[in-house]
Amino acid sequence: MTHAATNAMLKTVTLLKGNVTSADILEGKLNAMLQQDERDAFLVADMGDILHKHLRWHEALPRVAPFYAVKYNDKPPVIRTLACLGAGFDCTSKNEIDLVLQNGVIPERIIFGNPCKKASHIKHAAARGVHTMVFDCEDELEKVARIHPTARLVLRIPTTSEFEFPSQLERNFKVDLKLSMNLLSTAKNLGLNVIGLSFHSPRSSDSFEFFVQAIIEAQSIVEMAKKLEISLKLLDIGGGFHGRVNGVETFEEVALKVKEALDTNFPKGSNIHLIAEPGIYYVQSAITLAANIIAKKSESTDGKCSFMYFLNDGIYSSFHVMMYNRCTVIKPLSLKGENEVTFQSTVWGRTCDGEDCIVKNCSLPELSTGEWLIFKNMGAYSMTTCTTFNGYSPPECEFVMARKDWETLQALPEAMKTFVPLEDTGLRVPLCCDQNS
Ligand SMILES: Cc1ncc(COP(=O)(O)O)c(C=O)c1O
Repeated sequence: MTHAATNAMLKTVTLLKGNVTSADILEGKLNAMLQQDERDAFLVADMGDILHKHLRWHEALPRVAPFYAVKYNDKPPVIRTLACLGAGFDCTSKNEIDLVLQNGVIPERIIFGNPCKKASHIKHAAARGVHTMVFDCEDELEKVARIHPTARLVLRIPTTSEFEFPSQLERNFKVDLKLSMNLLSTAKNLGLNVIGLSFHSPRSSDSFEFFVQAIIEAQSIVEMAKKLEISLKLLDIGGGFHGRVNGVETFEEVALKVKEALDTNFPKGSNIHLIAEPGIYYVQSAITLAANIIAKKSESTDGKCSFMYFLNDGIYSSFHVMMYNRCTVIKPLSLKGENEVTFQSTVWGRTCDGEDCIVKNCSLPELSTGEWLIFKNMGAYSMTTCTTFNGYSPPECEFVMARKDWETLQALPEAMKTFVPLEDTGLRVPLCCDQNS
């Protein structure tokens, strides 16, 4: 990590004094607003949380270089913190590539991970020095052959159940070996350079079965590719590691099985370099939302009282991703003590839209207009899919880092912040992830 990278990070992140934590910042903001009528929803982002995720990643999957999926949170403090830590970046568009480059990252630390790219975006990536890109169909190969014939291509392994309902996918996952071979052979006939394979777990899961099966299948494709005289050098295991606190299985439990499968199928010396594209993993638990109750209604059915609360945030703002059903369980926390009597409650957003329901039938103590609800694990998508529907602005976010985390960041080992080229892949990764080191 260079001084320039840490200085750039500090321009966007507030470094906290003494023993102050991000939780103290949240509490301080809530207290400061007690005297005000205007109690806008806000987010607090703890960059130390991202640092600790990164350290856990390297501990659990030491050979796998992480390329953060930018779409989950593309704010400069997040990009700069991850750049400082030594992560690579998975970009899906021209704008994401530019954003990462503008935040001081070299193009060899970027993979263009979108398998269906606009022609102009391929051209742009080539001009900016981003040469490693994913494909999954013939049409894409023809486009690349025309626009960027020297690109380093990564085949996203086609699966037979790509578009099925996510919860079934892990069970049904099946690689289409024939199509994989056809695509490799088409690429060869077009004179293109396929350097690796990738796959992506369909949803951030707590289970490892998808990874293990996909790694085994990838190994057979590497062997079959040799028959076409294609020597693959890279395996990208995609995303799919959850980032919540209190997941069903911890990241470490899933990662251990993934590591075992990689060590068995792609041991050191197999000359296959390993990367991944974690997104949710890095940012989910880093951000907490505080939203204020702007209206309240009560109802009594069969002598049972229930409440409806309306917040100054909602499905069209920080919770927008819930519309696509990608979010994990949303659990609001009140600031009242745990021993309070609770009531069945439904939490609505601030728009006049019938879909704008954040949580149905949860248990909350009785609250009043002006009180706060806290939502943890809000880091993924909350800031990138937010809309201004009904004329509302997105909540502001304060990005902070505790002093002790800053000291840990500065003391990171050299091998995590020195980048080495991965032969013939167009990528550079931290020395500590290089199999030959
Ligand atoms: C190709 C690809 N890579 C990586 C990711 C990140 O996934 P996750 O956040 O589950 O790690 C996604 C998510 O949509 C993706 O489509």
